[in-house]
Amino acid sequence: MAVGVFDSGIGGMTVVREIRKRFPGEKIIYFGDTKRVPYGNKSKEELIRLSEQVVAFLIAQGAKVIIDACNTTSALALPHLREKFTTPIIGVLEPGAEHAVQESTGKIGVIATKATIDSHCYTSKIMEKDKDTDVTAVACPKLVGFIEDGDLDSDYLKRILKSYLNEIFLNNCDTLIMGCTHYPFLADTINQLVGEEIKLIDPAIPTVDILEGYLEESQSEEICYVSGDLHEFNNTLMKVFPNHGFEKIVEFDPIVD
Ligand code: DGL
Repeated sequence: MAVGVFDSGIGGMTVVREIRKRFPGEKIIYFGDTKRVPYGNKSKEELIRLSEQVVAFLIAQGAKVIIDACNTTSALALPHLREKFTTPIIGVLEPGAEHAVQESTGKIGVIATKATIDSHCYTSKIMEKDKDTDVTAVACPKLVGFIEDGDLDSDYLKRILKSYLNEIFLNNCDTLIMGCTHYPFLADTINQLVGEEIKLIDPAIPTVDILEGYLEESQSEEICYVSGDLHEFNNTLMKVFPNHGFEKIVEFDPIVD
């Protein structure tokens, strides 16, 4: 048994990081669609088309449970994927929203890709759990590019991040959901900017809690696939997550455009 994990690029590695912590022996098959990153400005139809092929590929490689480690596809493609495949697929968005409601005293901020924010999925999931919560949702279209380049703390990045966080400050949010799996790599930088008063939520943590119910003894081989340039991906991965644990990282594109 192996856990399939996918994202547009390196962001899903923040979910791998949590799986490694919680279930160290678990075998993971990862796919990062680095050829097509970012997903955050793609249409729902395109996201469904891409993620459907990725999920089919991961199942064919032996994944018995899949984590959709991308908030954007969790928001826009997950209901379709769950209808299409019988393999269980866990998304990151609902666990993130639920965890934030538990942690917050009523004012939640969400930062995410444009497609995730435009879907209003975080806001509606939060309101389903607690209709009195005040939600401030901010699209941060430029952040993924920095993280894919391995830039987690340059002055230029901080300036952009600060401008995105302005509304979160103005609305006195007490809790901030990092609603894109790339962003937890920026947690230290975000913490420096927002200070101790705002609690950061990494949806990977409650998502991996759910995984526990699906795990069985694992025999499969571990492997990380990326659709884009292998060398570039490796460079960024060594900067942002050197203890990723994958012995085999290969360039392979299962998607037919
Ligand atoms: N990491 C993904 C997410 O959580 C996708 C980011 C992107 O490719 O724009 O939304």
